[in-house]
Amino acid sequence: MKIDLTGRTALVTGGYGAIGAAMCRKFIGAGAGVIIVGRNSQKGAEFEDELKSMGGKAMFIQGDVTDKKGMEDLCAEAIDKFGKIDILVNNAGINVSAERRGPIHEFDDEDWQNIINTDLNGVYYCSKPVIRHMVSQKYGRVINVSSIVGLVPLRNQCAFTAAKAGVVNLTRAMAIELAPYGILVNGICPGSIMFEGTRNLFYKDREKADRMLSHIPLGRPGEPEEIAGATVFLSSDEATYMTGNIMTIDGGWTCGFARDF
Ligand SMILES: NC(=O)c1ccc[n+]([C@@H]2O[C@H](COP(=O)([O-])OP(=O)(O)OC[C@H]3O[C@@H](n4cnc5c(N)ncnc54)[C@H](O)[C@@H]3O)[C@@H](O)[C@H]2O)c1
Repeated sequence: MKIDLTGRTALVTGGYGAIGAAMCRKFIGAGAGVIIVGRNSQKGAEFEDELKSMGGKAMFIQGDVTDKKGMEDLCAEAIDKFGKIDILVNNAGINVSAERRGPIHEFDDEDWQNIINTDLNGVYYCSKPVIRHMVSQKYGRVINVSSIVGLVPLRNQCAFTAAKAGVVNLTRAMAIELAPYGILVNGICPGSIMFEGTRNLFYKDREKADRMLSHIPLGRPGEPEEIAGATVFLSSDEATYMTGNIMTIDGGWTCGFARDF
């Protein structure tokens, strides 16, 4: 199945991150124009150049998803320069590093606020102006990136777990509210996804790696491209009867226990 998104424009938050970059490359490969949103102007500009060198139409706009007014301005600028936004991917997200994790009674309040503000409020702040535009054009595809921990909590990550669970039900709420306007809203829950930056680290701690892999029926972490493929599919005319769907892409992690007791 060759997906064709020629003439469509996709806005991807956190667009030069590991998963976001794979999504942007796949959108370009499918013929869509891409608006990359992120906070670092140098990384954004470099990634814009990379996408253009693939022959695609791409533009980086600096923006922070926790900045409500900034997201409204950014949306206006994107529409001004690209003419429209057909696809919104709410992908930007943060979690605490391993050494800052802990049970709720020890969890740092500032970490809690930052994670809820980025991973949940950020989806709301970015969606609102883009959806207004999609309502007016009576067309839109929204993909919200949650996580398997939004469905099955992992201990010592209460903020990430709560924010990503919020994204799951926000996705369903958006789906029922926006269906009358021709806007389809779906969620994606990645499992453990590897990328260049973490691959060596992960495999350095063999014991930790084995512990994690023993939970994954497919026996390996996923690749960013495997999340990107589903995103492009959900954005396409191959998925016109899918809305409010929460798609796990986790090698089977959330199916149940992959090992004996
Ligand atoms: N990698 C995994 O194993 C995994 C698993 C489950 C869910 N996810 C989710 O997938 C999404 C992408 O994660 P990733 O693995 O590519 O991580 P990443 O850190 O490589 O990418 C996240 C991107 O979001 C950007 N970002 C963070 N805060 C922002 C803000 N306030 N405004 C704008 N941009 C901001 C970061 O700068 C980065 O570019 C996240 O929502 C993450 O929670 C990842």
